Formats: sequence, structure tokens, C-alpha cells
Amino acid sequence: MLEIKNLSKTFYPATPEEQKVFDNFSLTIEENVCTTILGPNGCGKSTLFNMISGSIINDEGSIQLGGLDLSKLPEEKRAKYIGKVNQDPSMGVSPSLNILENMSIALKKGKDFSLKSLLRNSNVDLIVKKLKELDLGLEDKLSTQVKFLSGGQRQSLSLLMATINHPDLLLLDEHTAALDPKTSKIVMDKTRDLISKEKITTLMITHNLRNAVEYSKRIIMLNKGKVVLDVLAKDISEEELNELYTKNILCDLRKAS
Ligand SMILES: Nc1ncnc2c1ncn2[C@@H]1O[C@H](COP(=O)(O)OP(=O)(O)OP(=O)(O)O)[C@@H](O)[C@H]1O
Ligand SMILES: [Mg+2]
Repeated sequence: MLEIKNLSKTFYPATPEEQKVFDNFSLTIEENVCTTILGPNGCGKSTLFNMISGSIINDEGSIQLGGLDLSKLPEEKRAKYIGKVNQDPSMGVSPSLNILENMSIALKKGKDFSLKSLLRNSNVDLIVKKLKELDLGLEDKLSTQVKFLSGGQRQSLSLLMATINHPDLLLLDEHTAALDPKTSKIVMDKTRDLISKEKITTLMITHNLRNAVEYSKRIIMLNKGKVVLDVLAKDISEEELNELYTKNILCDLRKAS
């Protein structure tokens, strides 16, 4: 279980650019299922993920994962427990390394290794087995540099790399946003298969309301760093969500003007 308690974050404090993104924010996330985080641009979704993964340090509050206080660990230590896939298909992979090298690095994540020992001990059979499960033919391209893969192939590879060590938490930050609708569906289906087969606690940010309803168990909407909706996906439709979403943002714009 992920337990976020009394989290606060202000960027550029005590300057004219000061921006309070979270103020006393709390949230509990259930294990082994996918929870979607929705919300307008700039409402704090990625900041929340970055505070969980440790690339942004929260000012106050605690982030506990299965009882472990993440806020006390540096980013590289948290990486042992957290898998992350971002919107940019080149981010979760090393583009100039080949598929085998990328997968070998993913397998060793959180452990000390040298490049030599990495390649010597790389578990090719396991890597081939995992790639075959993706069903994209990547197992036949082990020595292909990842920069030559398509966006969808790279995101699928990133997803596999992020989950191969069975993380305690998987963070998906708009991981299908850069993909065409067909490829996006393929990657979302792979995501669902991996989460349900491996039972991985997942938080997914998306602006795709259909994916939110179809692929997650719970839907949370944020606005200005606060939870404005928290429902089970089975209890809401894409249309209702769209309506709420628009109202929420409109209401916000009205307040601002
Ligand atoms: N590292 C940072 N330094 C300064 N400000 C930041 C930083 N990261 C985020 N912000 C600010 O915090 C606010 C929330 O940004 P965030 O990226 O979390 O939004 P988001 O909900 O992920 O939006 P989007 O849907 O556009 O991805 C924004 O105003 C942004 O400018
Ligand atoms: Mg974002």
C-alpha cells in the first residue's frame, strides 16, 4: 500500500514566482491494482509522481510504500522499489544501447554492477522469454540499438524494463500519450496484462478518459493539488467523467477571471 500523508510542496518559495503545488495533501493507494490520476495541465500530477520517485523532494509530509518511508531515501535507492514509464519514448531506455543491453541493465537495477559483469552474466534466456511475452518480435532484435525502434516498441520495452524486477509501485506518466491510437491500445493492453499477471500496484496519469475507465479500478481527479473526485471506474462513464472534468476546469477558470 502507498500512503501519502500531509504532503506539501512549494516551488520558488519566498520569491515572486512562488508556487504552492501541494498543501497538506494525503492519499492512500490500494495494492495490486491500477489507479488512474486525472486532472488539468499543471495541477500537480507529475510533481506528485516526482516526489514519490524522489526526483523532486517534498517540503513536508511522508510517503510510505509498504511501510517503508520513501522520503528518507535518495532517488537511486527508491528506484529499487519503483518502476517508472514517462510520456517520452526515449526516456525509459538508453537509445544508443541495444535491446539486450537495455534489458540487462533493467534486470540489475538497484544492484551494483560493472558493464563487463553485466554483459557476462546477462540472463539472455529470461530476457528472450520476457520479450516474447510482449509479442512484438523484439526477441529477434536483441542487438538492435533501441533508437531504431518505433515509439510503440520503445514504450513497450520501457514498460517491460520498468516491471521486470516486480516493483512495489509502477508509475505511468502519460505513457501512451505520444502513440497513435492503435499502438496506444497495444501498449495499454500490455500494461493491463503485466499489472494483472504480476500483481503490480500501479498509478497511471492519463488525459485519455476512455483509458481511465477501461483500464483502471479507481479514478482520482486532481485540481490545484487537491483531490476533487475519487470513484471506482465501474461507477462512472467516460461521458460523465468528461462532463465533470469540463465543469471542474470551467469552474476553475471562472474563479480565476
Ligand atoms: N521542477 C520544477 N520546478 C519548478 N516548478 C515546477 C517543477 N515541476 C513542476 N513545476 C510546476 O508545478 C506545477 C505542476 O506541474 P506538473 O508538471 O506537476 O503538472 P501536471 O499536472 O503533470 O501537468 P500536465 O498534465 O501538463 O503534465 C506547474 O505549474 C509547473 O510549472
Ligand atoms: Mg505531467
